[in-house]
Amino acid sequence: MAAKINIAVLVSGGGTNLQALIDAEKSGIIKSGAIRLVISSSSDAYALKRAENAEIRAMVVEKKACKDRASFEKGIVECLEENHIDLIVLAGFMCILSENFTKKYANRIINVHPSLIPSFCGEGFYGLKVHEAALNYGVKVTGATVHFVNEIPDGGKIIMQKAVKICKNDTPKVLQERVMKQAEWIILPKSVELVAKELLKEKK
Ligand code: GRF
Repeated sequence: MAAKINIAVLVSGGGTNLQALIDAEKSGIIKSGAIRLVISSSSDAYALKRAENAEIRAMVVEKKACKDRASFEKGIVECLEENHIDLIVLAGFMCILSENFTKKYANRIINVHPSLIPSFCGEGFYGLKVHEAALNYGVKVTGATVHFVNEIPDGGKIIMQKAVKICKNDTPKVLQERVMKQAEWIILPKSVELVAKELLKEKK
């Protein structure tokens, strides 16, 4: 049986979830897989610096330079195949993947979403907008969800969730920070290990 499965992390921005994954691999929380590759949809994502600091191979498939989604995804698939990737983790990745792509990697793509799905998710709910919606609705509790990715935005099977209290006078930014610290950065690494452990059993 293979020692570890090969993990790719797809990013677009600050990469705090990528950092949590890097730290979790170092601390042994993630032991059934190794982060072999970071793919960024933007060349100025700070996540690339985090990958460099951790000496992890990083590639950029610049979304805005691609003529359409098909060519963008073709570039990503080439990177994944070159590196024999078994599990794809979307960590602050701001692109919606096509049905073709999600079917090609069925049950091998996971994503962290900054709300308790099915609340505040789907088309148009990303980044700070999620927290704005939660505050506008007046919910007392929010949180984060890690789920498998399918063709429906934030629609795949839920793997793990963690609740976070909303405090009086929270702004979207303050709430986003708390949800990242108290939920995303905890359940994403744990979920990656859970899924990697299962995939490792299948890997010949
Ligand atoms: C996080 O709130 C994440 O849930 C969302 O994008 C934000 C930034 O993520 N998808 P990161 O710092 O780039 O990991």
